[in-house]
Amino acid sequence: MKILDDFLINEFQKDLIDWFEQEQRDLPWRQDQDPYKVWVSEIMLQQTRVDTVIPYFENFVSKFPTIEDLAKAEEDKVLKAWEGLGYYSRVRNLHAAVKEVAEKYDGKVPDTVDEISSLKGVGPYTTGAILSIAYGVPEPAVDGNVMRVLSRILSVWDDIAKPKTRQIFEAIVREIISKENPSAFNQALMELGALICVPGNPACLLCPVREHCRAFAEGVQKELPVKNKKKAPTAVSMAAVVLQNENGQFLIHKRPEKGLLANLWEFPNHETILNIQTPKEQLGDFLKNEYKVEAKIGQAFTTIQHVFSHLIWNITVFEGKIVNTIQETDNLKLVHLEELDEYTFPVSHQKIRKSFLLQ
Ligand code: ADE
Repeated sequence: MKILDDFLINEFQKDLIDWFEQEQRDLPWRQDQDPYKVWVSEIMLQQTRVDTVIPYFENFVSKFPTIEDLAKAEEDKVLKAWEGLGYYSRVRNLHAAVKEVAEKYDGKVPDTVDEISSLKGVGPYTTGAILSIAYGVPEPAVDGNVMRVLSRILSVWDDIAKPKTRQIFEAIVREIISKENPSAFNQALMELGALICVPGNPACLLCPVREHCRAFAEGVQKELPVKNKKKAPTAVSMAAVVLQNENGQFLIHKRPEKGLLANLWEFPNHETILNIQTPKEQLGDFLKNEYKVEAKIGQAFTTIQHVFSHLIWNITVFEGKIVNTIQETDNLKLVHLEELDEYTFPVSHQKIRKSFLLQ
């Protein structure tokens, strides 16, 4: 391959792995090579920073220490352990996949590309990470951070926002990965991306593989990787309401089992549009039509913004009183303040609750 002409693979591997062995952070998922724990950590680390993941990981593996424990756990308990981490389809897929491993593979995470990658939510990155870190198989584990590192080291100018570009980097990793220690090699690329070869302004003077880095030699490290902008997220206006009955119980609703934030609980809310009805009137109609709830909606007490990768919610939050008798269902409940903790809420609705209680 032309990209690798003149690239000193053995020297690169040695400099990279020696540095990793000296400098790696002491992270809880590095205590052992349990494939289940490697799997959980890699799923948590997708789209979430290491510092945020650490306490979630520790709590999750203490609640569900093995494949069997997670496989037999109730979905509500599993979601609760993920509350606040976001991207909840990650944990639903993990739960489904772990059940499959328990049944089909007798609780042992499989060790072949075909078997692992057929599990729900396990894409090429996670497959490579589990195989290399837990089983020592020289498979690439290429995510955005690894693409940034390698685009600089080898001066690759393909757009990393394009899904196809990952395959170019996987082909490169297949050529340069250490066959003796693929676990350290892949983790070292991740660690270099986290500690030294960071976005924007990399710390090249501290870099253990600076001598191998073509972008550094050419002085173009800040221009790489090439990452063309995605389209901006769409903003929607919402109205939400913290509704209580005469016993002080709160009305909460469970979201549908498919789609954004599936199966999480929320305060009643509705998208509002600009029309002759105010957001409060639109919300009142929604409560009547959807939930058969007659409410006296009061003042707005806060506004909350929540940014997803593709969507921004701007939520105006009202308080209100329920005036009729509510028929509770599996998806619509009246709960006391102390019981709210038993339900999993997305971060935006945790903020609504907090702000309501601080008034
Ligand atoms: N980012 C993704 N996987 C990681 C890992 N295993 N350790 C540290 N950071 C990571």
